[in-house]
Amino acid sequence: MAKYTTIAPLYDLLSAEYPVYGAGRRRLAELIGLQEGQQVLDIGCGTGLNFPWLCERVTSTGTVIGIDRSPTMLAQARGRAQRNGWTNVILIQADATELETPDTSARITSAGGRALSDAALATYSLSLMGDWPSAWQAMWDLTTAQARLGILDMQKPTGFAAAFRPLAQLACRLGGSNIDAHPWTALEQDCTEALRDSLRGGHLQVRVGSKPQAA
Ligand SMILES: C[S@@+](CC[C@H](N)C(=O)[O-])C[C@H]1O[C@@H](n2cnc3c(N)ncnc32)[C@H](O)[C@@H]1O
Repeated sequence: MAKYTTIAPLYDLLSAEYPVYGAGRRRLAELIGLQEGQQVLDIGCGTGLNFPWLCERVTSTGTVIGIDRSPTMLAQARGRAQRNGWTNVILIQADATELETPDTSARITSAGGRALSDAALATYSLSLMGDWPSAWQAMWDLTTAQARLGILDMQKPTGFAAAFRPLAQLACRLGGSNIDAHPWTALEQDCTEALRDSLRGGHLQVRVGSKPQAA
């Protein structure tokens, strides 16, 4: 956490959003299919780089819940929400690998949200969490029966782009991510109708799926 506590004010500048990582975010936005009035959970939300498209899609009648363990990243996210007049953004400081469903739902409802969200996503965050399967479980437990779930994360570039592997590995190491974590495998295993995309020479992996009807 210390890393993100220190760099929070500079995160947006240092995140290579425009040349690299924003492309995955835009693809996830296209695939996840959010609708007006829905409530969406952003796990490891950081400074809120997803908030513009999340707020645009759920509109002012919906709710965006950002969860992050770093207070300084959340301070940046709060500032972004305030500057943009997004009064429907709820921010919760918590370790996503240790979320207790009743307690987290209670925190969300006391802040004005609904106990369960219609969708949950994690962008460039699960690969930082050693115990990412627990965070994935929380995404599952804190969403409705047929919720849409999305993961955007990183792996080593492949094919012609393998030449960029050292750069990608350095970026992940500096950011504290495990480039070999491949957390989207959980979504592929647990969800139906899994959609996938791969961008920037395979470095960015996007997965979106739905919880199965009987879940
Ligand atoms: C690389 S940043 C990504 C932020 C944002 N999702 C984005 O797409 O720009 C990773 C974020 O995950 C958060 N994080 C790491 N481990 C966490 C955990 N166990 N629980 C909650 N947040 C965590 C960090 O504080 C940081 O804000």
